[in-house]
Amino acid sequence: RSQPLVLGIESSCDETGVGIVRGTDLLTNTVSSSMEEHVRFGGVIPEIASRAHLDALVPALQAALAEADVTLDEVDAIAVTSGPGLAGALMVGVCAAKALAVATGKPLYAINHLVAHVGVGLLNPRGGTGGTGGSGGTRGNGADKPILPDNLGALLVSGGHTEILRIRSITDDVELLGSTIDDAAGEAYDKVARILSLGYPGGPAIDRLAREGNAKAIRFPRGLTQPKYMGTAEEPGRHRYDWSFSGLKTAVARCVEQFEAAGEPVPVADIAAAFQEAVVDVITSKAVLACRERGITDVLLGGGVAANSRLRQLTEQRCSAAGITLHVPPLDLCTDNGAMVAALGAQLVMAGIEPSGIHFAPDSSMP
Ligand code: KG4
Ligand code: ZN
Repeated sequence: RSQPLVLGIESSCDETGVGIVRGTDLLTNTVSSSMEEHVRFGGVIPEIASRAHLDALVPALQAALAEADVTLDEVDAIAVTSGPGLAGALMVGVCAAKALAVATGKPLYAINHLVAHVGVGLLNPRGGTGGTGGSGGTRGNGADKPILPDNLGALLVSGGHTEILRIRSITDDVELLGSTIDDAAGEAYDKVARILSLGYPGGPAIDRLAREGNAKAIRFPRGLTQPKYMGTAEEPGRHRYDWSFSGLKTAVARCVEQFEAAGEPVPVADIAAAFQEAVVDVITSKAVLACRERGITDVLLGGGVAANSRLRQLTEQRCSAAGITLHVPPLDLCTDNGAMVAALGAQLVMAGIEPSGIHFAPDSSMP
């Protein structure tokens, strides 16, 4: 049997995505975003996002099928993000996917958006586009089988989550090793960007500006790294693998205030670079520590912040130094898209998992 042809639909936030994969090969990834309509509000407005999905979904579907040069008839299964995300936005994708499944008789898979963010790392690397050197997905084995490495970990860094996980199976046998106890990393980027008046969304703006700054000009705190939280490998402290970013955000605000109070120009690029270094340093050091101590040898990096250039660079360096194989998705597969949904759907089909049927409801707060 050939590998399954799976169409994936993503509509959990502001991106309308349709992707098509064949097994672990990416055929197409069509994304349109309503971000421009949200920028002036400084955040995604759910009702605007839902309406934008309604406008964008059918054209995205048609474009994806045309680009992949396949018909709906040839598709083996449909996968759709069923949570977490904005309820109304999720509803548009879920209803569209159910309608397609009913109309075509194809099996339908409800997909957890967060698992898809890391599962996308299982796709085969494309001919060198966007990926970081040397890393890539797990290679296809040509057989009708999912190919999860043993001892697989996932580092999920997004606007809502910062977690290091051990993945025992692609369904949902996932163990949480560590996570943020307050803000997610992406949230910290967005809040700090606001403090620095860099606009919304803040992650990409800080990433760009940090390149012009000196990360060593200021030293911001690394949360939960004190011995009382870390403990030792034998006697781990309560937050050995956990992160905290709210103190860092406050430290940035204080720093800006000090420059302003002194009537000095705020060194925005240096602050952006030093903030980014603090985030990326503590994320990578704790993630690598957790992997080394728990025998994890392969790590999937995923989530919107995985698009960050410094995070990609330092994770590669530190994983490589620790003998851990890192799977980094290409940039365009880090932010929300349909290909990651299709990729995870294909893993479920290949694992022989039963489809979800059409009676599931979107779950905006899915764990
Ligand atoms: O995964 P995602 O698209 O949405 C969630 O599911 O949360 O992640 C969005 C987050 C935002 O906080 C955004 O600022 C951040 O990812 N982000 C970045 C970069 N690109 C997106 N953060 C840092 N550097 C980037 N280049
Ligand atoms: Zn996401």
